[in-house]
Amino acid sequence: MSANKGNAFLGRHFVDALDFSPQEYDALLDLARAIHRDPAAYAQACRGKLLATLFFEPSTRTRLSFEAAMLRLGGQIITVADPQTSSAAKGESLADTIRTVAGYADIIVMRHPKEGAAKLAALHSPVPIINGGDGAREHPTQTLTDLFTIREYRGRLEGLTVAFCGDLRYGRTVHSLIKALACRKDNRFVLISPEELRLPDTVKEEVKNLGRVEVRELERMEGALGEADVLYMTRVQKERFFNEEDYIRLRDFYVLTRDRLREMKEDAIVMHPLPRVSEIAYEVDQDKRAVYFQQARLGVLARMALIASILGVT
Ligand code: NCD
Repeated sequence: MSANKGNAFLGRHFVDALDFSPQEYDALLDLARAIHRDPAAYAQACRGKLLATLFFEPSTRTRLSFEAAMLRLGGQIITVADPQTSSAAKGESLADTIRTVAGYADIIVMRHPKEGAAKLAALHSPVPIINGGDGAREHPTQTLTDLFTIREYRGRLEGLTVAFCGDLRYGRTVHSLIKALACRKDNRFVLISPEELRLPDTVKEEVKNLGRVEVRELERMEGALGEADVLYMTRVQKERFFNEEDYIRLRDFYVLTRDRLREMKEDAIVMHPLPRVSEIAYEVDQDKRAVYFQQARLGVLARMALIASILGVT
């Protein structure tokens, strides 16, 4: 494997879903698939490179899948998984932390509870910053994973009816994915949420400005599932609520059961960024349309493609 100087991804940050064009996403997904076919060919691609994961918020999948991805590319990792053990707990600014870690690693993946934190980090970092989630705002590498899953299971990223269900207000994975899908032809969106958890107007505006997309908002799941090619379920984001009572009231607003699944098309897929709480009954896991654990698995390949491209070792 050699460094590819003509690589359009080399040295870039990935903070927002719209940082990459549809063609660039397609190139990353093609690479993810190539890695899937022949992992041995990429097993040393990142030899001698170091990835730092800086997580100021809980995570299982995002952090571990990035670490697994780097290790599977032959690179190495350093990590701060618990902010209480880092100098942030002593009052260090994010900018200073980033400048320091950038002196140790070739690429940084970070998650932070504050919206815009990854953008701020990118302004101060001489090495690429990958946003692993900034507050309720965006989560673009989940989008890469989600697009990969949709493409693998539905064969295309356009001409789809995608239903998003649950906490569309605080669910950052939804904010990123809907924008990326709005850039593609002929996608329709059905937004299913309680009044209080609707997709923010700012995101809705952005989506509408991206293309001729049809967006429909509903409060009930019943009757809405039959038209979906993709159902994207989300967890109510407990950590973003100020008030425990509101959380408890909204937590079980939607539960996808085997009964409800009967409404859905045979070739539809059910996705979830995970972790699941109560919004998908465990009985649904056995259904062939439930692909959320495969989705998590595909996330490693998607992140391998991303790291290799940004480090210029495709
Ligand atoms: C999501 C997140 O962190 O936003 N998880 C993930 O990265 N797969 C979704 C969530 O926490 O509900």
